[in-house]
Amino acid sequence: MTKFYITTPIYYVNDVPHIGHSYTTIAADVMARYHRLLGEDVFFLTGTDEHGAKVAESARKAGKSPQKFCDEVSNRFKNTWKHLDISNNEFIRTTNKDHEKAVQYILNQLNDKGFIYKGDYTGLYCVGCERFYQRSELVDNKCPLHLKEPELLSEETYFFKLSEFQSRLLDVIKSKRFIIEPEERRNEIVSFLEKEKLFDLAISRSKVEWGVQIPFDKKHTTYVWVDALSNYITGIGWPDKKDLFNRYWPADLQLMAKDILRVHATIWPALLMALDIDLPKRLFIHGYFTVDGQKMSKSLKNAIDPEVLSEVYSIDGIRYFILREFSFGQDGDFSTTRLKERYNKDLANDLGNLASRVLAMAEKYTSSMVPEMGQEEEIDADLKKVILGAFEQIDKLLNKVSFNETLATIWVAIGQVNRYVDKTAPWALAKQSESERLKAVMYNSLESLRLISLLIYPFMPSTAKELRKQLGLKTDIEKKLIQTAGSWGKLEPNTKVKKGRALFPRL
Ligand code: MSP
Repeated sequence: MTKFYITTPIYYVNDVPHIGHSYTTIAADVMARYHRLLGEDVFFLTGTDEHGAKVAESARKAGKSPQKFCDEVSNRFKNTWKHLDISNNEFIRTTNKDHEKAVQYILNQLNDKGFIYKGDYTGLYCVGCERFYQRSELVDNKCPLHLKEPELLSEETYFFKLSEFQSRLLDVIKSKRFIIEPEERRNEIVSFLEKEKLFDLAISRSKVEWGVQIPFDKKHTTYVWVDALSNYITGIGWPDKKDLFNRYWPADLQLMAKDILRVHATIWPALLMALDIDLPKRLFIHGYFTVDGQKMSKSLKNAIDPEVLSEVYSIDGIRYFILREFSFGQDGDFSTTRLKERYNKDLANDLGNLASRVLAMAEKYTSSMVPEMGQEEEIDADLKKVILGAFEQIDKLLNKVSFNETLATIWVAIGQVNRYVDKTAPWALAKQSESERLKAVMYNSLESLRLISLLIYPFMPSTAKELRKQLGLKTDIEKKLIQTAGSWGKLEPNTKVKKGRALFPRL
């Protein structure tokens, strides 16, 4: 059986889940659900990144122990994903004991293989924050919290020999053995690796307690990236659960925004090369969301909470909107005005209204029963062609990770059904006592809705299930392999249908 292993980044617990994190997570969920629909063996991993000085500082401010603080925020992420219908198979936390043990195992391996050495890290250190700052993080050369100029300080640290991997990285990226998409992101990394020299990476701190201890020097904890990146392998059981790991590794698709591309295109593959582990097959880098042109974060107080938003626009409304409105690789500015427009037009009108009028007619004209398929006329054949064609097209488009084009294609199909109903006018046929043609038209309309439920399922799972319930069908969609269910005429005559709640009540 084909397998499909997909990941999101693990999110920092010093922020709260917002629409930016949801973007990657929903996108990954759509891919996971689509591949399950294809009958593949899917593993979908997400989680939280919980170590480091910043987290310890946030915990201190909140008057909590770091572990308690992490438990709480990590739970917020978990609950938000549950709320948004995210179907991850596992939720990894970097404070899991198994993960911590695996990170120490990695550090030992890197050390034994000669990829680690001890040196000094020199940087701008704020005593108040107990951390190093990048020059770009300072405001007027001062620490933004303590409003004092940080001191130039040296600290003993362990380094990972990242610089040794420069040419191998360039080679795997250029030869597409390690795929980075879209193309312009790949070019960006290639030109970075061609022009700039990679430095060895400081991977430990001696002043940060909230982290994984360096196993060969207990005074140090490891700093961010070795701990965070390894989640993608520890989350599927590396190194202990060999069967699980071998079943899913290498990752088929890793999603993230451009902010962490460089790390994932350099440190991540270099670590794997150093450990003699295969590289992931493909990274796909998406754009960044801003709100009114500004970056979104807890500290800026402009973070949009997807749960709050979903109270108005529904969960599937949010899932639909963020993948329909923006091209996945590009940046986008989030606007609730556009969300409302799309909700009313695409969801309430085009889809919701179609379902409710077809089902209302079935109740009225065919006694709530699916009729026989009947004789095919030209207009029926056209309808069938567009709907079945959509299945082929979305397969290609989802392989390109192009969600907005996929949804546009599905909406072309929905538009075709709407026009079909308008043109065939069942209400007029009902008056003319043309009962055979009426039955055929009703069959085709209901069968179109069945196929639309499959098309929209990865994006809007609960709407798809509700639609199927109204069509009198089983709702366990993932067992409906698209190859068999995605053909015409599978709707059984005499199935009892029942118009239910509006899929998307107008706002
Ligand atoms: N913990 C690291 C990642 C470690 S992965 C080994 C991290 N965490 S984060 O919480 O800052 O999340 C970054 C990721 O969240 C981005 O790459 C992206 O997937 C998602 N996004 C966060 N804010 C976003 C936007 N405003 N817009 C789009 N995606 C955003 O970096």
